[in-house]
Amino acid sequence: MMKNEEYRGVSHGKVILIGEHSVVYDQPAIVLPLNEARMSVYVQLRTDADLYIDCEYFCGPLRSAPDMLSNIRVLVERLIYDFSLKNKGFNLVVRSTIPHERGMGSSAAVAVATVRAVAKFAGRALSFKEEFEYSQVAENIAHSTASGLDSAAVASDSAVWFQHGAEISTFAFDTDAVLVVADTGVTGSTREAVSDVRALLKSYGPNVSCETWSSIHRLGQLSFESADALRANSMRALGESMNEAQRILSSLRVSHASLDRCIAAAHVAGALGAKLTGGGRGGCMIALAQSSSRAERIRAALTQAGAIRTWLVPLQSKGIH
Ligand code: MEV
Repeated sequence: MMKNEEYRGVSHGKVILIGEHSVVYDQPAIVLPLNEARMSVYVQLRTDADLYIDCEYFCGPLRSAPDMLSNIRVLVERLIYDFSLKNKGFNLVVRSTIPHERGMGSSAAVAVATVRAVAKFAGRALSFKEEFEYSQVAENIAHSTASGLDSAAVASDSAVWFQHGAEISTFAFDTDAVLVVADTGVTGSTREAVSDVRALLKSYGPNVSCETWSSIHRLGQLSFESADALRANSMRALGESMNEAQRILSSLRVSHASLDRCIAAAHVAGALGAKLTGGGRGGCMIALAQSSSRAERIRAALTQAGAIRTWLVPLQSKGIH
């Protein structure tokens, strides 16, 4: 059944520095690659025309995969059609070190790695924009109305400035600061969090939706202020923006006791700023450390506060995809 041919596509996780949730309403956001959390997808050719998937959730024919994998099924069908691969069977083998349902972009990462592996098999060289657009085919199924931030982030090796409807751009900065990323171990559904924020925006209580809309706009402004702070290497200003963003995200009801506990511990350990990252309601948080030695102290404090895993991300970006 198996031929001795294999094509590999890779991608990585992501960390939103600022702008989650408001990005859904066309505000800008800044997102960084999380290179230590990796996604690999292998296309292994078969001698027959069947399609199989082998991943953490399911192992078997792709057409019988559970609904939770319909994003990948639809994406693969589209790639097969666009790349004229009909009647070419393969196994899609997914291997990941990105924790899922923690706001680290695992669904977008599997989509981008799949696109890269199938494109390699088809002998196609895709642009960043094409990879992004194919990944969105899967993301719009996984999250219903995905802003595109995750797809852009997991396909890029640099920090991305993302605003729906505008050109996706990378930007360069060089600081000595480090982001400490901590996984609370609590799964949070981005889909639910996004839909609850949408419900808040639509609520008709006196001033409720109005206040919520001004929070969304303020989060957008904080992205501009954070970009300025990064370019000017002004980490205190960046930390303040992160703290204000966290207060707003809490008021939008997407924080969680596990996140609040880690954020408080990071402040006590000397973080310049701390906030949730991703959809919230659990998942991961980030803390800004002035230096590597401070980052180690914050990391220890986060583990003490219950984080099940931590990563250190130097706050640097080359500015190229
Ligand atoms: C999820 O990583 C980020 C959100 O802003 C949703 C989205 O952008 O689609 C919460």
